[in-house]
Amino acid sequence: MNKNILDAPFIKEMIEVTTNLYNHGWDERNGGNVSYLLDKSEVIDYLDPTKIVRNIPIPFDGEDLKGRYFVVTGSGKYFKNVQNDPACNLGVIRVAEDGQSVDLLWGYTDGGVPTSELPSHLMTHISRLSVDPTNRIVMHCHATHLLAMTFSHELDEKKFTKTLWQMCTECLVVFPEGVSILPWLIPGSIEIGKATAEKMKTTRLVIWPQHGVYGAGRNMDEVYGLIETAEKAAQVYTYVMAQGGIKQTLSVENLQRLADAFGVIPRAGYLNE
Ligand code: 13P
Ligand code: ZN
Repeated sequence: MNKNILDAPFIKEMIEVTTNLYNHGWDERNGGNVSYLLDKSEVIDYLDPTKIVRNIPIPFDGEDLKGRYFVVTGSGKYFKNVQNDPACNLGVIRVAEDGQSVDLLWGYTDGGVPTSELPSHLMTHISRLSVDPTNRIVMHCHATHLLAMTFSHELDEKKFTKTLWQMCTECLVVFPEGVSILPWLIPGSIEIGKATAEKMKTTRLVIWPQHGVYGAGRNMDEVYGLIETAEKAAQVYTYVMAQGGIKQTLSVENLQRLADAFGVIPRAGYLNE
């Protein structure tokens, strides 16, 4: 319990990923939020789990996660500042027994609270854990070109997915299940949390039109890589459109050959869209 939490691998990973997200320009100001499910065994080397700094109510039922530990970015915190002051910008929380609040064990030193998107994060963790018990990360950012595509491209999940698959050969291999798209909803609301979590049962990427993207997965590299790959495809799409549009693209036949070569199954009904 006497180790310095600033040396904890999970804090280092949070610093690294928030810094990278900021440096990409995907999290201006306080944009973006990250939550990382921790095992108690990872936490107790650094924190006394019986020492609760304060209790913070949450506006939804988190009972399915009671007793689970997370490190979460703070609401209103700037990702550019996380590396210089992790204790102010991050918090380690545990979902309380009644599921109606979280116990703060470390962080948010200026009296802060977890991200306003906690409903989407915790509901997504519940969804992802139901389909993949090893899921640990939920990440939200304002990836520039994906966001731009939600203005210029039809918001049909099949068509949007197929366009991304066709922009970079790697895409189909990285997210064969495709991407989901929500209607425009109020950020931070229970409604957007429920809608995001529902989509997360089938895809690890969920687009929020005119806002950003959510990614989920087993570790930071997987989730960062997912968002990075989809965002790269959206960037290529942006250039292609600016260069005058598509003259040739990856054919359906080649996409299928690619899937066969890499042993992935494209989401049914998405290739022939
Ligand atoms: P927070 O600062 O509360 O995490 O909100 C940022 C954001 O991106 C909202 O969608
Ligand atoms: Zn946002």
